[in-house]
Amino acid sequence: MLTFQNENIEWLVRKAENRENARFKIDRELKQSAQILKPVSLVYLYIRIKFIMYARMKLCEKKGMIKKLCVRVCSNNLYQIDSAKPKPFENIPGPRSLPVIGTLYKYVPFIGEYNFTKLHTNGLLKLKRYGPLVREEIVPGQPIVWVFRPEDIEKVFKAESGLHPKRRSHLALLKYRKDRSNVYNSGGLLPTNGTEWWRLRREFQKVLSKPRNVVDYLEDTDAVVQKFVRICSREKPNDFLPLFSHLFLELICLVAFDVKMGSLSEEEKHPHSRSSRLIEAALTTNSAILKLDNGLMFWRFFETPLYRKLRKAQNYMEEIALQMVTQKNQDASICRKQSLLEEYLKNETLDVKDIVGMACDTLLAGIDTTTYSLSYALYHLARNTNVQEKLRLEAATLLTDPMSPMTAEILRNAIYTKAVLKETFRLNPLSVGIGRILQTDVVLSGYHIPKGTVVVTQNQVICRLPEYFDEPNSFRPERWLRDNDVTKLKEKFINPYAVLPFGHGPRSCIARRFAEQNLQIILLRSYIDQTSKTLIIRINEHKNHDEEKILQKRLIASALCLTADEIEAQRSGWNLNPNTQYHIQTDEGPERFFRFQTSNGQYRKEKRLADGTVIGTEGWLDPLGYLRLKDYIADHEGFRILKSKMVYVGKDRPIQDALAEAKKIPAQTGILARPKRPPNPFRRPDSNAIVPLSGNDITSSYYAPTTIRPRPISRNNYYSNRPGYPSELQSLDVYHRPDAMYYREPAARPPTQILEAPYDPAIGSSSLKPSYQSPSVSQNDFPLYDGTHTTANGFQYYLRRQYHEEEREPEGNNVGSFGYIDPFGIRRVIYYKTDPFSGGFLHKKNNRYVGFNATPYDPLPPDLSRTRLSRALPTSAS
Ligand code: HEM
Repeated sequence: MLTFQNENIEWLVRKAENRENARFKIDRELKQSAQILKPVSLVYLYIRIKFIMYARMKLCEKKGMIKKLCVRVCSNNLYQIDSAKPKPFENIPGPRSLPVIGTLYKYVPFIGEYNFTKLHTNGLLKLKRYGPLVREEIVPGQPIVWVFRPEDIEKVFKAESGLHPKRRSHLALLKYRKDRSNVYNSGGLLPTNGTEWWRLRREFQKVLSKPRNVVDYLEDTDAVVQKFVRICSREKPNDFLPLFSHLFLELICLVAFDVKMGSLSEEEKHPHSRSSRLIEAALTTNSAILKLDNGLMFWRFFETPLYRKLRKAQNYMEEIALQMVTQKNQDASICRKQSLLEEYLKNETLDVKDIVGMACDTLLAGIDTTTYSLSYALYHLARNTNVQEKLRLEAATLLTDPMSPMTAEILRNAIYTKAVLKETFRLNPLSVGIGRILQTDVVLSGYHIPKGTVVVTQNQVICRLPEYFDEPNSFRPERWLRDNDVTKLKEKFINPYAVLPFGHGPRSCIARRFAEQNLQIILLRSYIDQTSKTLIIRINEHKNHDEEKILQKRLIASALCLTADEIEAQRSGWNLNPNTQYHIQTDEGPERFFRFQTSNGQYRKEKRLADGTVIGTEGWLDPLGYLRLKDYIADHEGFRILKSKMVYVGKDRPIQDALAEAKKIPAQTGILARPKRPPNPFRRPDSNAIVPLSGNDITSSYYAPTTIRPRPISRNNYYSNRPGYPSELQSLDVYHRPDAMYYREPAARPPTQILEAPYDPAIGSSSLKPSYQSPSVSQNDFPLYDGTHTTANGFQYYLRRQYHEEEREPEGNNVGSFGYIDPFGIRRVIYYKTDPFSGGFLHKKNNRYVGFNATPYDPLPPDLSRTRLSRALPTSAS
């Protein structure tokens, strides 16, 4: 044992000596050659280097390393390979496959260098290591060839001409559907191959890919998109992705099944709603597909946990698809126009089982694809404000009137919008490449590829290579503009096989036209919406998902309406622009104050006076664009709201502008406010009314002694808005009634009741209006009642369908009215007056059918002077 060890050691020492000697020898030779080289001319050197390179190439070729050398040495003509004498398939370089486990060990998390969730990164690694054609056996005996040259991709597609292109994907889905032969005839379009695929494809594409059909749905699509844009600018959720998914589900169901899912409604956003569950089911299936397609397919023999997930998700999709198909089959009368589903049902070569399969495919392939494409497009736009500007310009040029409908003509001319989408697809295609099963032998990059081999093109990797695109990582839609006069850029020729976001040939995406049309409309509509300044998407989360054909990444996008520079600020929760935010404070001296305003719409100032009274104003701009401002006081009588305003100033208005706007507007409630009230036959002019205060400025002398009373004046403008009195007061309703349209639409109602100002037709056309007029908004845009109802000498509140107002007259009697719209649309108003001396309560009712859209108070009440008034007993007085 010992001898053996000694021998071993001796052997090792000898080897080390030899290596040392060898190294020494090489060093010496190098030194000698350096000496020799000194006098040698450059030409000699050049020839020698070329010779050495050639020799190395020959050597490496022998070892199967030709690609590696190509990458290193011939970087100019990277992939110039002679295909005259094809080399054998087995010689294609690639990761080493081990018996039984193939190359799966390379995908093991933390240990392996590849990752199933990052196919494009794997692709780039393989390209760098092995060259433009890579052979890999993830599962032993099932070679896949990754193709990195557009010229090779062209050959793959040309080889399938005249044949039915075959794809190897969605294998688990195929099994699921085959197991349920009572529901499906076949695996459906996605996984099926051969003549069965063509039977389905031929019939479905007649309907789904026909340009005329696509255009027919433009109007419906536009209506949904407009609603979506309104929701976007109103809600600004942290995560826009679910909203996008709901939008596309709505569009798909509308077009494909003529079903209005109402996916954008509040109820459907609930996680247990039909829409949310469908979206989840599609995502679960898409996420499971790749893992089930690759790797060891135990699910073929028993139900693995992942397969179970897919099965459950598919069960749900199938249930909904069945419902829709059956309903349409039974009752064709519910459709407004020919839906795709209806056209399928009329087709005699298709039976219901085929159609259910197609309905499921549509739900499966139609939601995530467009959702993520839109996310990527908005993400790139957010980072490129110059592109946004161009897009906005194009939108404004094509849609001069934002309310005008979207037409096919507009979409045709939206050249820049199309370029934005193309560029998005270049940088973030939804599919890493296109997979095919070869049906003939082909030669790719000089290698023979036999029929039956699975090849997957690597377009996503190609699209980011400098060999094929100038500035490959920049988002430059201009590269797609044909006559690029503006920038005069000399773009590289773009090989059409480099960018294939929808695949190629007869097997390409069946709904490409629909998807592109939807995305174009969304971009144009988003940018024509003048209220959204800049469209922005922030990456919140960048989760990777694992679908072979559909998704590689999950991008969670959020926060519209900021500039790109504000991304960081938004993340930190603060706008760092010093001009819009401040906080000043002094804690010295008898009077102390602080004052601050933030860029996200908050404002407060407060002053503590020498006698301990605190006065202040607080304001905030709510998400709907209403500034809510309250002047308050806290003194020996306690805390009270002096004046309160709720003024529509427009969304995202800088707080300082909003405050300036609000100054023009009289207070609506609060103990100092003298609001207008609806006409009341019991009311009479009061010459001792106080003047409403002009503002709560901490420099205002009003607050110096807190006990001062408001100054009485002789002439009272307050009553002048009533008939017979010239008005100098302005109508409040132009400020805080966002849109009269609300009253025109009886079907939809706000979720809660609304504060509403009295409307007086006599002064409805006030000349003084704020510069920010309310946009057309839906009911949901209305502010909630803010709860402040005390006024200088009474109270008032106005809700959507009811109101109550009362004021105390100088003699001590109370005059008021209350009313409501009853469920039959009858307005029921009671005018009343109390008599402090007799304790009586005079009242008169005024009931009239006015419909649901009318105000709860009567702007023109009947003349009650000649009618008999009811007198209630003092005990029943209010
Ligand atoms: C931006 C959106 C979309 C992208 C990027 C996209 C991309 C793709 C790609 C790459 C393929 C494979 C093509 C091939 O093998 O050559 C495909 C196939 C398919 N897509 Fe889309 N797609 C999108 C939207 C949609 C929508 C909205 C639907 C549903 C109505 C849909 C339904 C299908 C179907 C059924 C197939 C299989 C076609 C067949 O094998 O014959 N796709 N899509």
